[in-house]
Amino acid sequence: MNLTGGWHWHWRAWRSQKRWAPTSAQIEAWLMAQTMPRKQLVLIGASAGWMLPTSWLAQFDAIYAWDIDPLAAPLFRWRHERELKRQGTALHLHTGDGLAQLHDAVHAMPEAFFWFDNVLGQLRFTHETLDAVDRRLRKLRHTLKPVAWGSVHDRMSGPAVQGIALPVAHQSTAGLAMEAPEGQAWLQQIGAISPWLDHLTEQVLPQGTPVQYTAWPFKPGYAHWLEMGWCPATPP
Ligand SMILES: C[S@@+](CC[C@H](N)C(=O)[O-])C[C@H]1O[C@@H](n2cnc3c(N)ncnc32)[C@H](O)[C@@H]1O
Repeated sequence: MNLTGGWHWHWRAWRSQKRWAPTSAQIEAWLMAQTMPRKQLVLIGASAGWMLPTSWLAQFDAIYAWDIDPLAAPLFRWRHERELKRQGTALHLHTGDGLAQLHDAVHAMPEAFFWFDNVLGQLRFTHETLDAVDRRLRKLRHTLKPVAWGSVHDRMSGPAVQGIALPVAHQSTAGLAMEAPEGQAWLQQIGAISPWLDHLTEQVLPQGTPVQYTAWPFKPGYAHWLEMGWCPATPP
């Protein structure tokens, strides 16, 4: 069963485009300003790329996208293909488990940039314990060592004050505990009302990686704290 994709995700994303636009704009500004390599892009959890800027995708020579959702590929084409073709970006869309084929992709495309697009914050729904999520993330970081990679993921989500203005994006470093004063101040800016769900992504990116926090008004009265960051390949 797909808990985070499928027609209900597409329906929500399509309906919420206006509400999510300021969040997507903050993601776009951050992605465009980064200096990650832009030859090949391996995109995990692409869906239809509802929150992905075509302008950034078009900077790559080729995109290899993975999603377990069979609706993802046709909808991704509908949203992005025309502009990608115009700009000469080759598109390879796969329906399947992008995490399972990661090891092979890393070895087949050592020059590629690997991007996890709002997928790692959902590991907590498919792994039974905090330890299991930790082990999965440790293995993932190890597999990705030879390549440049990054992720946008949920840090936390929950009830929020309605109608507050989206805060400006906050720059920080990976590994910040949500209990830290900086984390608490950010939650206050988003209008978080306790209790919030911890998506267990504090350790996704190596400690100290520069990250941006962006608030995501997911639905009325409910918000997400998104974190995005990337790191270069680790020399052998
Ligand atoms: C929250 S949605 C984000 C979708 C997308 N990034 C967007 O902006 O529209 C998470 C996506 O990850 C996909 N997904 C979950 N596990 C996956 C896996 N192991 N491999 C590939 N895709 C996966 C789901 O099908 C879903 O489309």
